[in-house]
Amino acid sequence: MLKIGIINGPNLNTLGKRDQKIYGNLTLEEMNHKIESFAKKEDIELTIKQSNFEGEIIESIQQFSSQVDGLIINPAAYTHYSYAIADALRDCPIPVVEVHLSNIFSREDFRGKSVTAPACIGQIAGFGYQSYILAIYALKDILKKQTKI
Ligand code: DQA
Repeated sequence: MLKIGIINGPNLNTLGKRDQKIYGNLTLEEMNHKIESFAKKEDIELTIKQSNFEGEIIESIQQFSSQVDGLIINPAAYTHYSYAIADALRDCPIPVVEVHLSNIFSREDFRGKSVTAPACIGQIAGFGYQSYILAIYALKDILKKQTKI
């Protein structure tokens, strides 16, 4: 069975309460539930983590790199300035897709820059929780080509 890890960064644990016009009204738990039911139908084993701490996110990237076939990460605000997370992603031997709920390019200028996306295969932004579903599709296709499945 294909294994995919998901890492959600700071403040994503407050989804549902955070600016709903931007992030929608689903809580993290509700969003995870939708993503998990999609993964189940696709026969994919998902492990989802969330942390508000940069070091913990780096440790999760390092751990996932030997535990799963592909990784999805929403580094949240760290996207825009964490060279430490970017380095961890560069060292990660499995394919990684960066996702964002919001369209980071249509918001404040500082959000239009991702220091982490260049260390990933690609980035999907602006589709709410569907960004994660699209990332699962993308990873499945990439891993199929690598004959992992
Ligand atoms: C976000 C976008 C970031 O700019 C922001 O800091 C977040 C969430 C998104 O998913 O749209 O916390 O990563």
